[in-house]
Amino acid sequence: MKIKTQYSCQSCGFTSAKWLGRCPGCEAWNTLVEERPSSATSAPGPAEGSLGAVRDEFRGMRDAALEEAGLHGALMTASGKGWVPLDPEDEADDDAGEKGTARGKGKRTSQPLRRHATGLDELDRVLGGGLVTDSFTLLGGDPGIGKSTLLLQMARGVLQKQPELRLLYVSGEESIDQIRGRALRLGVQGKGRVFLAAETQLERVFASVKELKPHVLVMDSLQTFSSGFLQGAPGSVGQVREVSARLMALAKTAGIAVWLVGHVTKEGSIAGPKVVEHMVDTVLYFEGEGGHTFRLLRTVKNRFGSTRELGVFEMEGEGLREVSNPSALFLSERKEPAPGTATAASLEGSRPILVELQALVSPSGLAVPRRTSVGMEGSRVSLIAAILERHMGLKLANQDLFFNVAGGLRLSEPACDLAAAAAIWSSFEDRAFPTDWLFMGEVGLTGEVRRVSQMEARLQEAKKLGFMTVVAPRAGSSHPHKAPSGLRVIELERVRELSKLLEAPRPRAESPRARQ
Ligand code: TYD
Ligand code: MG
Repeated sequence: MKIKTQYSCQSCGFTSAKWLGRCPGCEAWNTLVEERPSSATSAPGPAEGSLGAVRDEFRGMRDAALEEAGLHGALMTASGKGWVPLDPEDEADDDAGEKGTARGKGKRTSQPLRRHATGLDELDRVLGGGLVTDSFTLLGGDPGIGKSTLLLQMARGVLQKQPELRLLYVSGEESIDQIRGRALRLGVQGKGRVFLAAETQLERVFASVKELKPHVLVMDSLQTFSSGFLQGAPGSVGQVREVSARLMALAKTAGIAVWLVGHVTKEGSIAGPKVVEHMVDTVLYFEGEGGHTFRLLRTVKNRFGSTRELGVFEMEGEGLREVSNPSALFLSERKEPAPGTATAASLEGSRPILVELQALVSPSGLAVPRRTSVGMEGSRVSLIAAILERHMGLKLANQDLFFNVAGGLRLSEPACDLAAAAAIWSSFEDRAFPTDWLFMGEVGLTGEVRRVSQMEARLQEAKKLGFMTVVAPRAGSSHPHKAPSGLRVIELERVRELSKLLEAPRPRAESPRARQ
């Protein structure tokens, strides 16, 4: 039998039937590497043959494991067929008739997704309301950011909330003693239901899964595992794909919530989580900024919930602490007003986060003045500076402009434009806005201040954190701002009105529409 090989780019995952010096996908040189299936199979990559083997091996296990956990009723295809009717009643009848049991009758799929609580509210919210029982989740992030710590704390929480579940933590990076030491330090209590394995061979992991029948499986990390179905070192694009595809088959066939850790890698010999994002149910990234202890958990993809959610944690000596009031983290403690600062309300997922923006405008000695931005896209800051130059007459052409988002948060929402404009104007004019003022609004190229989504949620957060005045876009007469009582709203139509805000008496100090 002729064994087919393929060549995969180790940088972008492009595959080709023949070797090429330069990858047509990402134009990198010398990144194509031969990947050959081991002689047991005929096709390279995650072939149906290898996935079929996983399905055959684990078919039936989901029933036993989930029934034990009291979760059986929620799961589909328990009838053993490859399909189910959409209508839950039909399936319940069908199944009961066939198997002669009342198990799950009538309640099947009435609640289509069963979830485990992870014990971490921030994680539950990011997942869309808990960990879906037979799901495949990828947790990406830089090495050392805290991925293993997060998953060990999740293990603790899952077991605290659902003591009947079993969990298997497989590490390809650390020894059993190292994982055990860390797990105990983080307060994971085994109670005979948490199992640890130091293993890099996927088939051996599968053997352990068969024996232990865990409900949650953590694989740490993607780049250390390899499957005997494919030749090639762990971490190559081919192995990373094969391992992921087989874990996906395992999650769905055996009804296990599988977590896969993936280190984000610099381009090079190790394939990163990007290569497998398309095959998993949920993709989370764990991020942090150098020098800061807070960690952000972002959803990039979620088949079971919103992708706009943001979880906030802080890394401490005893592991990760959930930050339920993140605004406090990103607002400075300063009581005195300072020129060059303005507070914005950025919507991160369903939750508005208040954050201080800082600008420093100073005369430049350079022919081309500097524009530096941290936390907000540089081109956006330059655009806002150009709008201020054109529509407010700010002479910024010979000024350096340094821009910073306090606390290290990265903002992408246009709703932060007005605060950025206010910070730049404030630094240029050397005049400070009061510390209890908040700015929200998108700034358009013609200098108009445009409306932003979810004003009400942002106003509520402002009120909660003790802000007194919100500078906001003019509300349409049909949709007046619903400001909480005690919060003053100043409405702006054009960005140039920023310059009049600090003059007494303040313009439109009490808009007729301000309070509703
Ligand atoms: P880790 O979870 O090992 O990162 P990853 O799995 O993403 O590579 O976390 C590593 C860092 O976290 C390490 O540098 C030390 C720090 N850390 C703490 O500060 N406190 C703790 O309680 C733990 C467990 C780790
Ligand atoms: Mg780790």
